[in-house]
Amino acid sequence: MEQTFIMIKPDGVQRGLVGEIIGRFEKKGFSLKGLKLITVERTFAEQHYADLSAKPFFNGLVEYIISGPVVAMVWEGKNVVTTGRKIIGATNPGDSAPGTIRGDYAIDIGRNVIHGSDSVESARKEIALWFPEGPVSWASSLHPWIYE
Ligand code: TYD
Repeated sequence: MEQTFIMIKPDGVQRGLVGEIIGRFEKKGFSLKGLKLITVERTFAEQHYADLSAKPFFNGLVEYIISGPVVAMVWEGKNVVTTGRKIIGATNPGDSAPGTIRGDYAIDIGRNVIHGSDSVESARKEIALWFPEGPVSWASSLHPWIYE
């Protein structure tokens, strides 16, 4: 089954949005396969955002990500990468529809509360980076009520 990497950024943790965000993924029917509260080093954040290293906002983005603890998660389910991005909303909260996490809880692009992998391939890389020990393997007893 497909997996994605989701991270609640430092603003989301500081603002007490962790329970709300986890609840949205749980209630949708996705399965939690990894979870940790962690403050990352600069080099680690730079590695996570390596593809954006040439962007003018890169340094500010790294400063923001290392400014406090983040909640790193692995979520599993059918089409979880694409659906996870829909639950999160557009990169710029000003363009995110109400009902999405960024649409409901964020205003500025540089404080957009949450990260979600943008493809199955980046999910694989990000899960390997953040969870070198691997996700937790368990079978949800709810599966027959979520998948036909
Ligand atoms: P990106 O990977 O383009 O977006 P997403 O998080 O939706 O996959 O960018 C990574 C983060 O960089 C984004 O969540 C917020 C930040 N960012 C800025 O601060 N300014 C910008 O102009 C852009 C495009 C992104």
